[in-house]
Amino acid sequence: MLDIHTHILPQMDDGSRSVEESLLMLRSLRAQGVDTVALTSHFYAEDESPERFLARRAQARSRLEAAMDDGEWPSLRSGAEVCYYIGVSRTEGIERLCIEDTPLLMLEMPMTHWDRSVMDEALELATDGRVILLLAHIDRYLRYNKLDAFELLRSRGALMQINAGFAEDRGNHRLLRKLAKRDLIQFVGTDCHGITHRAPHMSPALEMLEKYGGERLLRTLDLYEEEFFD
Ligand SMILES: [Fe+2]
Repeated sequence: MLDIHTHILPQMDDGSRSVEESLLMLRSLRAQGVDTVALTSHFYAEDESPERFLARRAQARSRLEAAMDDGEWPSLRSGAEVCYYIGVSRTEGIERLCIEDTPLLMLEMPMTHWDRSVMDEALELATDGRVILLLAHIDRYLRYNKLDAFELLRSRGALMQINAGFAEDRGNHRLLRKLAKRDLIQFVGTDCHGITHRAPHMSPALEMLEKYGGERLLRTLDLYEEEFFD
């Protein structure tokens, strides 16, 4: 099983605060049956250049891997959760921020109603062929945007991720069913930030994904994992 959205790399962002905490998070995911983990640290273009981010990320990953013993660990893919900014679709070399060995660019959209310019940038990224657009935790934008906006992006090839915590919450099940039915879920991630606060909880969501998304959703999740992570 894949966890495509995590903040496990030590001291990269507001996620794991130490190598020790990162190891605990990875162990917890492994115990829940997760064998592949994308390390999607926050990238904020206003704070640093992609070059600087990539250098910091490489360093954080080396520190983490140096502390991993011979035990069983999930395999790791470096990535980024790119926070939307004006001009993101015109950024040269944006593909360097894709999840390692995939064309998937994880984009965190604004927590607001998406106006025309936001939609245009997202559509541009979805269709310009350099990357495959992957919207991070779409459950978090649903209160601001109608499903039409998601469906439009999906129709242009964008892929969508939900957070495991959303699926786990009983109050969301009608919505979960609706998203699955409209083919708006391709990936699930824990979006974990620590071992106690926003901890890695994947397994409680699985039952709900099956119950409300059905066999078809589970097959879809498997297919996309196989396509990009095998
Ligand atoms: Fe995140």
